[in-house]
Amino acid sequence: MTEPVLDVHLTPEDAASALRAEARAGLTAPRKWVSPKWFYDAVGSGLFEEITRLPEYYPTRVEREILVARADEIARTTGAHALVELGSGSSEKTRLLLDALRAHGTLREFVPLDVSAAALTDAARRVTAAYPGLRVHGVVGDFTEHLGLLPGAPPRLVAFLGGTIGNLIPEEREKFLTSVRDVLEPGEWLLLGTDLVKDPEVLVRAYDDARGVTAEFNRNVLRVLNRELGADFDELAFRHVALWNPEQEWIEMRLRASRPVRAHVAALGLDVEFAEGEELRTEVSAKFRREGVARELTAAGFELHRWWTDPGERFALSLARVVG
Ligand code: AVJ
Repeated sequence: MTEPVLDVHLTPEDAASALRAEARAGLTAPRKWVSPKWFYDAVGSGLFEEITRLPEYYPTRVEREILVARADEIARTTGAHALVELGSGSSEKTRLLLDALRAHGTLREFVPLDVSAAALTDAARRVTAAYPGLRVHGVVGDFTEHLGLLPGAPPRLVAFLGGTIGNLIPEEREKFLTSVRDVLEPGEWLLLGTDLVKDPEVLVRAYDDARGVTAEFNRNVLRVLNRELGADFDELAFRHVALWNPEQEWIEMRLRASRPVRAHVAALGLDVEFAEGEELRTEVSAKFRREGVARELTAAGFELHRWWTDPGERFALSLARVVG
C-alpha cells in the first residue's frame, strides 16, 4: 500500500501561539469572544459528530442528500484530476465525491487540508486504503492561511463543505474566497456548502438541541482553554446560549456566566472577569441566500455555475468556476 504524503505548514507550536494570541485578543475585548476553531479537540470533534446525528441538526444530513443526488453531475462537469478538501471533516461526504470522480475516470489525487495532524493522518490512511492507486497528499494547515501551498495538478476541485464558511464573518469570507481564487487557475472549481436562511425557530433548535449536546460542545471550548492555556474556567458556571441575529443573518453561540466568574489564564499571565450575565461569544454560523452567495463568489473572481438545494431549500451546494 502506498503511504499518504503529509505536508506540515502548521506545527503544534504554531497552533499554540495562534491560540495564545487569539485568546488574549478575545478575552480582553470589551465584548469577549473566542474563535470556533478551538472547539475541535478530540472531545469536541466527537461531540460535533454526535451533533450531526441529532434530529434537530439537519445541515449534515441535507448536504449529504444533495451530494448523493449531484455527485455524478459534479464529476462530469468538473472532470477534476484532484479533489482538494478544506477542513476535511466527515470523510463520508468526501467519499461520495471520490467515488463519482473515480467512476468518471479523471481522479488522480486527493488533497485533504486540516488543522489537526491527527485527524488528517487518520483520514489520509483510510482513504489510501480504500482507493488503491489514488495519491493522497495531506496538508496540515489553516484554510484561512495556508492555501498558497496547495499541491495537486489542474483541473482541481476545491470542496469546502458543511457550511463551515458560515463561521467566518463577511470580511474573513471575502479574504478566504479571494485566496482560494488566487491558488486556482481559470476554469478550476470550488464546491461550497452553505446553510440557508430559514425559520429562526428551526435554526435556533439546530444550535440548542433538546439533549444538550450542543451545550456540551460549546462549553468544551472552556476545557480546551483550561488545558492548552493553563486556565481555570469553571465550565459549570456558564450556560449555553444560541440566538438568531436577524440583521447579520447568523446564529450566534455564546456562553453566559450564571454568576460572577474569575479565571486565571496562566499561559497569558491574565486574569479574566465575567460579571453575572456577561457573555463570551464562541461562534457565529452565518446562513445564506442565493443572491448573497452569488455576489460573494463574483466579487472573489468566481462565477456561480450551479446552485443545488434540497426540496425544502434548507441547504445549498454551489459549484463555482474561476473566471478566466
Ligand atoms: C461545522 C461549522 C458547520 O456552524 O453548524 C454545530 C458547527 N456549531 N453546532 C455549524 C456547529 C454548533 C457547524 N460547522
